[in-house]
Amino acid sequence: MSTATITTPAPTSKDLGYKAFTAGQFRFERDEYFAHISYPGGRHIMPVEAFLRALMRDVAWGFFYGTVNFDSVLGTTNHYGTVDLYVGLYNDSYRSHKRHYVERFDSKALKQVYEGMLEDWTNEGFDPFAAPEETGLAYGAKHGTNTKAIKRQRVTAKRMVGLPGDAEYRTDQNGFPVNRAFADVPQTVPEVHAEPGFEGEVHGFNLYSYLSRSDVTWNPSVCSVVKDSLLCPTTEEHVLPITHGNDRVEWFVQVSDEIYWDIEDKATGRPISKVVMKAGDVAAMPADIRHRGYSPKRSMLIVWENNDNNVATLHASGKIKPYPVEF
Ligand code: PHB
Ligand code: FE
Repeated sequence: MSTATITTPAPTSKDLGYKAFTAGQFRFERDEYFAHISYPGGRHIMPVEAFLRALMRDVAWGFFYGTVNFDSVLGTTNHYGTVDLYVGLYNDSYRSHKRHYVERFDSKALKQVYEGMLEDWTNEGFDPFAAPEETGLAYGAKHGTNTKAIKRQRVTAKRMVGLPGDAEYRTDQNGFPVNRAFADVPQTVPEVHAEPGFEGEVHGFNLYSYLSRSDVTWNPSVCSVVKDSLLCPTTEEHVLPITHGNDRVEWFVQVSDEIYWDIEDKATGRPISKVVMKAGDVAAMPADIRHRGYSPKRSMLIVWENNDNNVATLHASGKIKPYPVEF
C-alpha cells in the first residue's frame, strides 16, 4: 500500500502559482494548459480542463463503481476502502509492452490529495461540473479559486427527494432556477391521493421539474432509494468527462433528448459498439464494458445503480454473467 501525500510548494521551473502534488510515486503538476503526470517509467499529459472535469467526478463520487478512466491511459479502480491509481492498466498497448504502472492507496488518503489538487488547480470562473457553455475557462497562471463550485454537496436522498427530513426540492428561492435548455418543462406539482391510513407512506414529485433545475452536468444524484436499488437521475450536456468501466450491470433510462454512447471492452479499450439512446429508450450496460456518453443538447438521464458490492465480486469471479438478460 502506498501513501498519498501533498507536496507544497511546487518546485517547478516556471512559477505559475500552482502547487505540485504527489501520491506514492505519482507526481501531478499543472501549467497553463495541461496536467502533467509522472510515474516510475514514464509521464502522461492531459488537457487541464478535461483533467479537472474528470477529477471533480472522481472526488464527488468517492471513486464511483469500478473504474474511472480520465482518458485511455490514466484512471482509478475502486476497491471500496482502497483504490488503485494506474497508468495504462486498461490499455492494450501499455499492457502488451509492459509499460503500465499501478499503485494502491487508502481511499481516504488519495481522496484528500485529489481534493487539494482540485481546489488549488481550479481557477476563479471555471466550474468543472458545468457545461462548457455555462463556465469560464480553466487556463492560465493561477488566478483565484472556485471553492463554491467544487464543494457542492452531491444529492444523496435517504429515501426520496421531498420527503420530510430528506433531500430538498430545487426552487428559484433556494438557488436552482430552470436551466436555459429546459424552459419548456412544466413546473406542475403532482397530486398524491393516498388511501386513508397510508398518508405517511405515499410520495411523489415532479422529477422533470427537479431535473430541469439541475445546475450541473454528468453528476448522477441519488433521488430515490429502495434497499440497494438507487435511482440516480442526472442532466447531461457535452461529453461525459470520464469513461466509466463497470464492475456491475448499470441501467440507463433516457428521459429526454438523445445521448450517443461509445462502448468499449473494459480491459483493453477495444471498441465494441455505438449506442444511440433516444427519449424513452432503456439500456443495460454490461459489467465488462466501459462507456462514454455524448449529449448534443442538455438531456435527462436516469442511471439505475445496484449498490450491492457483492454483485461486483460475483462478476469479477465470473459466477454471474456480465449482462442481465438473454434474448
Ligand atoms: C456512467 O458512467 O454510467 C455515468 C456517469 C455519469 C453520468 C451518467 C452516466 O452523468
Ligand atoms: Fe457507467
